[in-house]
Amino acid sequence: MMDKYSDEMGAILIVDRSPGNLGALFDFLSDFGFQVLIATDGESALKLVEDAAPDLILLDALMPGIDGYETCRRLKANPATEDIPVIFMTVLSETVDKVRGFNLGAVDYITKPVHQEEVLARVTAHLTVRNLQKRLLEKNEELAALNRNLEKLVEEKTKQLINQEKAALIGRLTQGMVHNLRNPIQTILGFSELIEQRAAELDEPSLLKYSGYILGAAAQINQMVNNLMVKVKRDRAVKLKPVDLNELVKYELELLGANMDFKYGVEKEFLFDGSLPTLPLISSHISQVFYNLVSNALDAMWERTERKLTVVTRQDEAFVCIDIHDTGCGIPPDQLQIIFDLFYTTKPAKGEAQQEGQPTGTGLGLPTCLELLKPFGGEIAVTSEVKRGSVFTVVLPKRYSPDPYPHSNAAQARYQFGVL
Ligand SMILES: Nc1ncnc2c1ncn2[C@@H]1O[C@H](COP(=O)(O)OP(=O)(O)OP(=O)(O)O)[C@@H](O)[C@H]1O
Ligand SMILES: [Mg+2]
Repeated sequence: MMDKYSDEMGAILIVDRSPGNLGALFDFLSDFGFQVLIATDGESALKLVEDAAPDLILLDALMPGIDGYETCRRLKANPATEDIPVIFMTVLSETVDKVRGFNLGAVDYITKPVHQEEVLARVTAHLTVRNLQKRLLEKNEELAALNRNLEKLVEEKTKQLINQEKAALIGRLTQGMVHNLRNPIQTILGFSELIEQRAAELDEPSLLKYSGYILGAAAQINQMVNNLMVKVKRDRAVKLKPVDLNELVKYELELLGANMDFKYGVEKEFLFDGSLPTLPLISSHISQVFYNLVSNALDAMWERTERKLTVVTRQDEAFVCIDIHDTGCGIPPDQLQIIFDLFYTTKPAKGEAQQEGQPTGTGLGLPTCLELLKPFGGEIAVTSEVKRGSVFTVVLPKRYSPDPYPHSNAAQARYQFGVL
């Protein structure tokens, strides 16, 4: 029988002026496993309630001192005790008083003399209701907490979306701006070349030097603009044409030979696989990738005494590769991933260089290369050793059809070449 109520067990306070009634109820309810507290008048009952916080109160209506009704009124007026269910115990004939009890917030009444089985039935019923109410309250609080979380999540997502929109808008504005920059840059480049020629004719060394600075800066802006334009170009439909990578690399190396430092200041070794197949590519994309990677290699070697650039073309069954080896400063392992991030650079910006000849950078080169290779499923693999040098490998799949899993080729290339 005790087990039957074990779930709803709670503390019950019995307030009764008659010790006989109190004792009988105490014994009966204790036997059922309830924790039973007792008081013989309203005042001591109110004190006890504050300390013990019972789950239910059986309250005698008529008591010396403050009676049951006043006790109930005070209980219901106190926010800490207002939720505790009160059952009045009244004498059978007191009809009007029963109504008074209900009006004061009592949940039930029991007529005196009490029948123990009736007390048990009512007490357990009201404790069950109270427990359910408590659980409901807890669930409501849980729900409210979940709701607050949800609101926070929605707020964060909304912020994210707004930021994405902003980024897209900035991107569109940048594209427009970059496009408009092309003509003035060409004008600066053209006229500074004219000034340079004129300074040479007039034998004006300082003018020659200054025009050289202007030309250098304009060329750098030009390069940045070209890099930023790539994305726009990529979005347009372009026709792929068969490209002989050996020819392309040789041509680019010849152009680089116009630079005196490259021509005389760097040891070079070129190894070409003569049997490379032609690949359907956009040759200007590959030219720019190659130029960016060689520029980085030369930059990495600027302070080194041993400066050697090795360019290798090679292939296996699935890929054609161009390796660019340098004997430069190398890249620490923890930086191998972030060097491809937009605007990541370890070089000072133009005008911030501390030493003469120190390479400057914007951090656009490598991310641009990745963009340029995307239409052909191309990737860049890197191996590097600090203070020894690096190898940047352009990996181009021989057969590539853009598929719904855009990274499968890249993943395959990485696996094949054991890099990153
Ligand atoms: N061959 C290399 N050896 C050592 N570090 C390299 C090499 N290539 C790239 N890095 C590192 O990666 C960084 C990012 O290269 P990335 O080409 O994207 O930008 P950048 O060369 O600094 O500037 P930009 O190319 O826009 O002029 C470089 O600043 C450099 O720290
Ligand atoms: Mg670069």
